[in-house]
Amino acid sequence: MTDFLKGYDIQYWLESCPQGYLEGTDRGHAPGAKEPDLILENPELREQAIATTVQLVVGERCALAASSGLINAAPDEASKRFLATQTLDEARHVEVFTHRLFDLGVKKAELEDVIQAHANPNLVRFAELLLEKVDAKDFVAGVVGQNVILEGMAFHVFEMLHAANAEANPKFGQTLAGTIADERRHVGFGENRIGSLIREHPERKGDIERLQRDMSYYMLATFGEQMRQGPSPEEVQKIVAAAGGEPAQKSEWQGVQLSNTDPEELEEVLGGTILKEFKMRLERIGIEYQTPERPAA
Ligand SMILES: [Fe+2]
Ligand SMILES: [Fe+2]
Repeated sequence: MTDFLKGYDIQYWLESCPQGYLEGTDRGHAPGAKEPDLILENPELREQAIATTVQLVVGERCALAASSGLINAAPDEASKRFLATQTLDEARHVEVFTHRLFDLGVKKAELEDVIQAHANPNLVRFAELLLEKVDAKDFVAGVVGQNVILEGMAFHVFEMLHAANAEANPKFGQTLAGTIADERRHVGFGENRIGSLIREHPERKGDIERLQRDMSYYMLATFGEQMRQGPSPEEVQKIVAAAGGEPAQKSEWQGVQLSNTDPEELEEVLGGTILKEFKMRLERIGIEYQTPERPAA
């Protein structure tokens, strides 16, 4: 257990996160940083930014409910303490993305209505499936659902969003960078902890693989639908040019120039990257990837 604790205890968390990359930030970004005027002034871009951010809030609320719920389901003290740090990370993520909605002009009184209107139904279903396992105090299924599937997949979405925004929107870019650093810890915990639990409980393999197939379906369906929302990267570039702005130069991710790729190609690259890494991660914990049916386009 000593090895597992290294990198996952509260002292490490304090030093690397609140006293590390978050030090001096205001809700994860440089104090005074603002959303770009172009997003705030263009109704289509603003709406698209709100829709994307709502998915982040919905995913992070799910992670907050799951990580806090799993504390009392955890079979060992080290996992409970790690999950306590994760709970605070997830609460922080909910807060920073909710504040981004306010910065984008969402009124506090309309927050829940805006979230409900934009929340992708596949993501909502994903959250329900995961929280059913957490409520049943099923630690193995809960950690696989949260720290392997939800976070293993969302990690790449954050990385892609970061590549697309780091230059054009440093405020959003920096909050994403901090979130990615947190998620890297959460995914590491999932792998480290769950590998040994699966070995101890080989009888769980079958239903964990079924859970993975069902949850992956809803995750991939969410990505596909969200990629096709709002103006395409090309249309965004036209809006930028019409406003006299410079197109983003460095928004490259996985060899793809994000600012001039059509959504279908992006979806393919994102799906490919996620699945490749995800399969390797499952393999390391002794789970065989089960292909979900292809989400309807
Ligand atoms: Fe998170
Ligand atoms: Fe997380």
